[in-house]
Amino acid sequence: MIETAMESDLARILVNADAIDKRLDELGETITNHYQSNGVEELTLICITNGSIIFAADLLRRINMYARVDCVRVSSYQNEDSPITEPEIIDQIRLDLTGRHVLLVDDILDTGKTLEKLVMILQTFEPQTLETCVLLEKQGRRQCRYEATYVGFKIPNEFVVGYGLDFAERYRNLPHIGVLRPELQNPPEWQ
Ligand code: HPA
Ligand code: MG
Repeated sequence: MIETAMESDLARILVNADAIDKRLDELGETITNHYQSNGVEELTLICITNGSIIFAADLLRRINMYARVDCVRVSSYQNEDSPITEPEIIDQIRLDLTGRHVLLVDDILDTGKTLEKLVMILQTFEPQTLETCVLLEKQGRRQCRYEATYVGFKIPNEFVVGYGLDFAERYRNLPHIGVLRPELQNPPEWQ
């Protein structure tokens, strides 16, 4: 394969496309089995855009039951990778969540602030159940006690891009997850 400029911005590949594919098969099966064994007929996925769009689209097709989908946009990272402000919903959910089985989907559990805040907000709609699924969980970054119900991969504390994850809105279209070369990242004091 010819290395593109985008590929050469990576220090290394952390999770390749085959590993993502395999793990998503497992996650889809685990999630489907969990709800079906509890007699749940329909699931409501709430995807946090933009980071989870690729993960959510691939996961959704592995969930073998009725599923409704909506997206929520949260502002917490001020266009770079450092969580400067408190997370805030800036595009409201249109689906009715009351009494529903809700699965919140995000790309990465980092400080935990986004998921913790969103879970708090979604609880106010009184869903019957509320679980969370993240593609990645970054080690050693948590600033709150929040744990996701389903985790794709646990990764070291490095800045990653690809498969939906960005730096300054770039790299989401990489088919794998890689560590961005340090000289292309924000200065360490921002992280
Ligand atoms: N990459 C992209 N976005 C992020 C990361 C990361 O490592 N951590 C939190 N948001
Ligand atoms: Mg981002």
